[in-house]
Amino acid sequence: MKIIAFNGSPRPGGNTEILLTEALKPIQESGHAVTVFKLNGMDIKPCQDCGGCATTGICIQKDSMQKVFDAIREADRIILASPIFFFGLSAQAKAMIDRCQAFWCEKYLLKKEIPAGPFGRKGLLLLVGGMKKETGKECSAGTAKAFFRTVSVPEHEILFFGGIDVKGDILKHPTALKEATEAGEKLGQ
Ligand SMILES: Cc1cc2nc3c(=O)[nH]c(=O)nc-3n(C[C@H](O)[C@H](O)[C@H](O)COP(=O)(O)O)c2cc1C
Repeated sequence: MKIIAFNGSPRPGGNTEILLTEALKPIQESGHAVTVFKLNGMDIKPCQDCGGCATTGICIQKDSMQKVFDAIREADRIILASPIFFFGLSAQAKAMIDRCQAFWCEKYLLKKEIPAGPFGRKGLLLLVGGMKKETGKECSAGTAKAFFRTVSVPEHEILFFGGIDVKGDILKHPTALKEATEAGEKLGQ
């Protein structure tokens, strides 16, 4: 199986990265091919709403998204991991998602779904926020659902941990790492 993961956090070794690493452990141990995209270090320009993809499903901007488009097309499993910033996904994650408008055009205008392989296509959303209230989870989950469905992932699990603010706080959470490992195990099946 091919698994790709997007880390939307700009903080190296931060809570999102720790959680994502934990979720990926059982997948890597099972021998699946894993590619992690650290979005903060990539050249991903925001969507320009130029309409260039409307008739072709192909984005005309040439940057790091070219390899992301290819990876999404081939993926059996997709993990999206992001901190909550201003009640939503990080700008790094959102920029990548907006560029998937090319897939939206392909799917909904050109009526071509990304075909699923023999393992089907599944997703996992990992969210970490400093606040305990769930507004950030709800807003982020709406955007993430639109992303997953657009890239032809019909089902995805969500893990959200609130009250996690200082770098490394996630390590003190009583169940987060275990839940992430279990979600990774399930995703790899
Ligand atoms: C610009 C910015 C905006 C934030 N906005 C929110 C927010 O709206 N809700 C929330 O729960 N946490 C918010 N936080 C806190 C982060 O979600 C929290 O620190 C998280 O653990 C960061 O994850 P990371 O270590 O993976 O980067 C914000 C942090 C930053 C830097």
